[in-house]
Amino acid sequence: MKSYVDYFATDDCEVYLGDALSILRNDIPDSSVNLIFADPPYNIGKRLSNFVDKWPTNQDYINWCENWLDICISKLTDNGSIYVMSSTQFMPYIDLFLSKRLEVLSRIIWHYDSSGVQAKRFYGSLYEPILFGVKDRSNYTFNSNDIMITAKTGAERRLIDYRKPVPTPYNTTKVPGNVWYFPRVRYRMEEYEEHPTQKPESLLERIIKASSNRGDVVLDPFAGTFTTCAVAERLGRHSIGIELQKEYFKIGLRRLEITSEYESEVLEPIKKNHRSRRKPQMRLLDA
Ligand SMILES: C[S@@+](CC[C@H](N)C(=O)[O-])C[C@H]1O[C@@H](n2cnc3c(N)ncnc32)[C@H](O)[C@@H]1O
Repeated sequence: MKSYVDYFATDDCEVYLGDALSILRNDIPDSSVNLIFADPPYNIGKRLSNFVDKWPTNQDYINWCENWLDICISKLTDNGSIYVMSSTQFMPYIDLFLSKRLEVLSRIIWHYDSSGVQAKRFYGSLYEPILFGVKDRSNYTFNSNDIMITAKTGAERRLIDYRKPVPTPYNTTKVPGNVWYFPRVRYRMEEYEEHPTQKPESLLERIIKASSNRGDVVLDPFAGTFTTCAVAERLGRHSIGIELQKEYFKIGLRRLEITSEYESEVLEPIKKNHRSRRKPQMRLLDA
């Protein structure tokens, strides 16, 4: 019996409709993937098409995560890397589990601003954690030159370090630290798709540039809108995306330009109405 419901392949990517665990087990060869980006459901009760992101108990969710994490690790090449996202409350369990199996090199915070509903009786969550682990800390890809960012002290304040024997200007660029700011994907952004937890292309761009090379295989077991595959393809990597929900799989087929029709349906981007989605904002007058 096939382990997936549907499958398409081009020269640049492969996309599966079905359950990540059975597809990973049956269709992805061991030691064949250079980079995995895993952004699973967070067990916080969000509706994801026909699926509600809530397990009967927290332990059930953690067991499920441990299951696919183990399979993912077996798919990585010896010099492979994995990035894993989850909710703030479940990441510590994933961290403890992964730390026994891999070298966790960075615990990254992706933070963003929120102008939506604000918490009033506790500190609202404005970040999502990302773990970065490698199989072998002495042999892994990290293209620091491809992800340099501006170092404000040198580039904007133009300070000179007078403690050096010869006074030297501070560096104008640096490798990003482990706190990343990227805006969330908003309705008016070009990349927006109809999915409640779509990740920004800018976030994936940093990860894919840093931790893979052109021609490498990049896999996303919980592809959602197939952001990982879209960015990987643009950067010349071969990508594999797996998604359980047909509604999101169809977004992937269109976004990756694999086909413009699926089951007799023409796959079209959502039609945006920029005016009707937002309440008019009050203009702040100068005091
Ligand atoms: C957090 S979202 C991923 C969003 C994605 N990173 C993006 O940029 O669009 C998680 C996705 O995993 C999918 N999913 C849930 N269970 C799955 C499973 N067992 N196998 C494959 N995909 C699954 C959900 O339908 C959802 O689209």
